[in-house]
Amino acid sequence: MNHAELLGWLREEDPVRLEELWRRADRVRRVQVGDEVHLRGLVELSNHCRRQCTYCGVRAGQRGLLRYRMTADEVLACAARARALGCGTLVLQSGEDEGLEAAWVADLVRRLKSESGLTVTLSLGEREERELRLWRAAGAERYLLRFETSNRRLYDAVHPSLPGRPSDRLADLRRLRELGFEVGSGVMVGLPGQGWDDLADDLELFRSLDLDMIGVGPFVPHAETPLGRAPRPAGPQQVPATVTLACQVVALARLLCPRANIPATTALDALASRRGWELGLTRGANVVMPNLTPLGYRALYEIYPGKELLREAEGCGEPGPRERVLALGRTVGAGPGGSRAFVERPGRALAPSQGEEPCPLCL
Ligand code: 5AD
Repeated sequence: MNHAELLGWLREEDPVRLEELWRRADRVRRVQVGDEVHLRGLVELSNHCRRQCTYCGVRAGQRGLLRYRMTADEVLACAARARALGCGTLVLQSGEDEGLEAAWVADLVRRLKSESGLTVTLSLGEREERELRLWRAAGAERYLLRFETSNRRLYDAVHPSLPGRPSDRLADLRRLRELGFEVGSGVMVGLPGQGWDDLADDLELFRSLDLDMIGVGPFVPHAETPLGRAPRPAGPQQVPATVTLACQVVALARLLCPRANIPATTALDALASRRGWELGLTRGANVVMPNLTPLGYRALYEIYPGKELLREAEGCGEPGPRERVLALGRTVGAGPGGSRAFVERPGRALAPSQGEEPCPLCL
């Protein structure tokens, strides 16, 4: 699919044509990655952050927000709950928190591996190569780092670099792959200033990076952030932050990256009044990430509003993740659920051998 065709699908509003897109994405998902939906237990390890991202509710500039760091024992308790829930993977996510010392994280990963046997995904922001190396050696298998938008100007505007350290997430992704991580990235849909071409470029970048995991969610304005306070730009080029457009991006990501693992994201679920998993899973996605963060902390990890109200794993009378998956006629994935893109990549984690197509992230 070329840029013009992507643009055509992104701008499509005819519900009949969109049904065709959902059908195609769902078919490719079924053929390529099957009916299993993998559950990833999400633990929001710390809400400390040194960055000033203008979209995010836990940015460094956020005054009056109580900051927390979970203890290793608290994380291990979450891991036990993850196992009980049928998750094969634990995702440790945090703000970009220098107080999460590399050696402490490595110890935590080792304990998680030996005590729970879960696959470990880290999503701790832009960290030093020596730290990433340490965590990989400790047993962490996967790393998530969204590039947020492929539009460099927009990226710099919403995601200021640290003084003297220009942010280069594409270089970070390349490094993660070289270190042998299964690599995930993704974008927000509907950022103020984001245009149609930008979204088509995002999709083409997913394809050329040959990502193992792709997370796409709608931008949800947070009133306490610069982007949440600013008037939303209007005009024909501005893309909307809607559930449908986020689903269009998910469906197209499935068509372009058929063997990737693609979650129906929490932001999609929040914006779609807790029907977002169902929408995502029937439009190309094959992963969900139930939030296992203890409730007291979860309320403090408000990167966007509405999120802390999601209580899908709490057994509070509402259907849990397993029920929601089964209700769609799908099955819950067993085991680590690594992406086909990763598992089947020739010479993965090794230098490409002669004559083999080099992986674009390793170039
Ligand atoms: N709306 C939607 N998604 C957001 N994220 C951060 N802030 C927001 C927001 N206001 C996403 C970013 C980040 C991920 C952890 O959460 O894409 O990478």
